[in-house]
Amino acid sequence: MKKEALEVLKNRRAIRKYKADQITEEELNAVLEAGTFAPTGAGTQGVKIVVVQSPEYVAKVDALNAKVIGKDIHPYYGAPTIILVFETAECFTHELDGAAVCTNMLNAAYAAGLGSCWIHRCKQMFELEEGKALLKEWGLPEDLVGVASMALGYADCEQPVPKPRKEDYIVRV
Ligand SMILES: Cc1cc2nc3c(=O)[nH]c(=O)nc-3n(C[C@H](O)[C@H](O)[C@H](O)COP(=O)(O)O)c2cc1C
Repeated sequence: MKKEALEVLKNRRAIRKYKADQITEEELNAVLEAGTFAPTGAGTQGVKIVVVQSPEYVAKVDALNAKVIGKDIHPYYGAPTIILVFETAECFTHELDGAAVCTNMLNAAYAAGLGSCWIHRCKQMFELEEGKALLKEWGLPEDLVGVASMALGYADCEQPVPKPRKEDYIVRV
């Protein structure tokens, strides 16, 4: 069991091509639950995980991220599910908690047989008027701060091979 967890941590890779099929509720819930068990500063759990699956909102979030980049591209690579991670006002360890939550979900996705990729620019997306309008539409506070986001779905590619790890990654003193 211990080995299996370590293998998941080592073998998860960023997936950048997805099948159109939606993931199952069971798979989604496994990923989300893993996110909620991530460590948070002082155990505040001051993170809000927002799941986007309707084709309309997936397209809107994809377009919003592309707008931040300033290019006509699909930053979420056609994934049928997008997960947005926000910090709430009471979350005093800011990005760190959200990053921990997102990392747990990426690893859980791989363990559940799914593909995923961390996608940047969540903060900038929800600073834009269109982002704030979406938060309002979703019944969420407009002062939520975007921390991280991820593409999630069934991989439509071979499992990528990781780059060799840097030799000076670890320093023992
Ligand atoms: C903070 C952060 C932001 C990232 N943003 C993006 C992104 O916008 N688009 C993307 O394709 N990958 C993004 N990635 C994925 C990294 O490019 C990827 O993790 C890295 O190349 C290592 O590959 P691996 O995850 O397969 O080990 C991001 C990763 C992190 C941690």
